[in-house]
Amino acid sequence: MPNKHIAVLTSGGDAPGMNAAIRAAVRTGIYKGWEMFGVQHGYQGLINGDIIPLKARDVGGIIERGGTILHSARCPEFKTREGQLKGINVLKDNHIDALIVIGGGGSQAGAAKLWELEYPVIGVASTIDNDLYGSDMSIGVNTAINTALESIDKLRVTASSHDRTFMVEVMGRDCGYLALISGITGGADYIIIPEVPVNPEDVASELRSSYQRNKMHAIVVVAEGARYNAEELSKYFHEHQADIGFEIRVTRLGHVQRGGTPTAFDRLLGTSLAAAAIDYLEQDRYGILVGLIDNKLAVTPLIEVTSNKKMLDLSLLKLARILSR
Ligand code: ADP
Ligand code: F6P
Repeated sequence: MPNKHIAVLTSGGDAPGMNAAIRAAVRTGIYKGWEMFGVQHGYQGLINGDIIPLKARDVGGIIERGGTILHSARCPEFKTREGQLKGINVLKDNHIDALIVIGGGGSQAGAAKLWELEYPVIGVASTIDNDLYGSDMSIGVNTAINTALESIDKLRVTASSHDRTFMVEVMGRDCGYLALISGITGGADYIIIPEVPVNPEDVASELRSSYQRNKMHAIVVVAEGARYNAEELSKYFHEHQADIGFEIRVTRLGHVQRGGTPTAFDRLLGTSLAAAAIDYLEQDRYGILVGLIDNKLAVTPLIEVTSNKKMLDLSLLKLARILSR
């Protein structure tokens, strides 16, 4: 097999398990006799020529670390054709034959643009939001859910001591997956997600009804991208003097969910997806996203990934309502 020069790049929001993916890509590539490189700071680093060689020892001791040793970034310039062409020129000047992009929806849209410009690229699904079409689970989701869940469990303790309602806001820019799963597994009384807009009056009346059913505390899990986020909902209740029975506190979990030690699931997912990406590169298969569908490794053309929207299983929302009785 010919000697290939392959670069790995992480982009968008960092996600626990990205390091496992970098390690697997680099070491399986080296195993095939290729030379491996890392692009630092996402597409911004690509435009700036921030490329380093990666040897087997460079990716040692990282499988257990959250974040990304290659650093990540948001890069508005890469959304322009000029930025994309600059990136391709940098790759060509550095004699890189193909690029592996580890990241979420935006990052894969960038990868799709590179492929449109005929640069060989392959995507690996990674975002805590789990909103990427072409993978049932993305790298980082499992860890982020467990991190959110641990906080929800802790908040329930203090909510119950003080007979309060906690509005817990979890991440998920446009997607309610994290809220839905951390909510149902955390026993939330109400889950609010962007996909199903709610009227604050209905939330107030549901909480009032919980109070009247002798519930002593309540947990509401709100996705940050919902029409009313946790702070706005609480403000609404206050301004409209909504009588819900409980006193309210708001906790925004924020970037805590992106940190943390990757779970076994995310380490395995990162490892398997990246190793598979190397296998596909060996077969000269480009312009695809490597993901997990029905518990199996699967590839989806990047054009399909970027032109489809992933749908949430809303039956879980209904189940959560039934279970909150
Ligand atoms: P994520 O990959 O986690 O969804 P973003 O949406 O922030 O994160 O995207 C990461 C980066 O991908 C952006 O900062 C930009 O550089 C690039 N990107 C996003 N959308 C596009 C697009 N439509 N075309 C080209 N590049 C894009
Ligand atoms: O896409 C991952 C994510 O963590 C979203 O859930 C969140 O909306 C966004 O990134 C936050 O971005 P930043 O780290 O740039 O504030």
